[in-house]
Amino acid sequence: MLDVILFGAFPYVAVVLFVGVSIQRYRREPFTYSSLSTQFLESRNLFWGSVPFHVGVLVLFFGHLLGFMFPRQVMLWNAMPARLFILEVSALICGILTIVGLVGLILRRARSARLRVNTSVNDILVYIALLCSIITGLWVALSLRWGSAWYTHTIVPYLQSLIVMQPDIQRVAELPLAARLHIISAFALFSLFSFTRLVHIIVAPVPYLWRPTQLVIWNRDRKTTSGA
Ligand code: HEM
Repeated sequence: MLDVILFGAFPYVAVVLFVGVSIQRYRREPFTYSSLSTQFLESRNLFWGSVPFHVGVLVLFFGHLLGFMFPRQVMLWNAMPARLFILEVSALICGILTIVGLVGLILRRARSARLRVNTSVNDILVYIALLCSIITGLWVALSLRWGSAWYTHTIVPYLQSLIVMQPDIQRVAELPLAARLHIISAFALFSLFSFTRLVHIIVAPVPYLWRPTQLVIWNRDRKTTSGA
């Protein structure tokens, strides 16, 4: 029964919350759609936490996405043991980068009084959910090796069964605890997404990469004007 709730119903609740609340929040409170930067409260430690965390988590995020979209290509890539090894080691390095960065971000908030008062319950939930996802991911990587090989005939068919609305719970219910917890924590992150600062992921300022540079033209003499 618990498996039916966790792997058969929870994924749909997560997707409904993710899509429904994200759209609703964007319409009602567009100015809250942000990462709510804390750089002006503390910037030195932010760099050492945020950069490794974001580099690791973004590679892992897109790696998971591509892996689920193109399982056959991943299998072809893995046909040579050396390539399988490169893929697994790269993912593990990104997992370690992510956890090191995340612990850095959490310690940064815990140590600074200014940041502590600006940390909401939602922020704490995000840190807990991210920690669960990353710790269980590393647990899978270290205890159930060659995940990039076995996921194609376990997790991929399970996700496909969810898409066609006929959840094949058996596929995941038989997986070891680490893998099951990793899947549940991913759906928990999806559920929290639209209520928290995680929404900044879908409003990433990507167009900044190709938009023309801004030219600031002063019409007054900057030396003689107060700027008021
Ligand atoms: C799409 C690309 C992304 C961009 C451009 C981006 C950008 C940012 C920025 C600018 C901040 C604020 C840092 C500050 O000044 O305080 C931030 C914070 C944060 N981001 Fe991202 N992010 C991205 C993806 C992600 C992803 C995929 C996750 C996790 C799944 C994530 C989780 C977080 C968290 C938890 C914080 C809060 C850090 C803290 O204040 O302790 N971000 N992000």
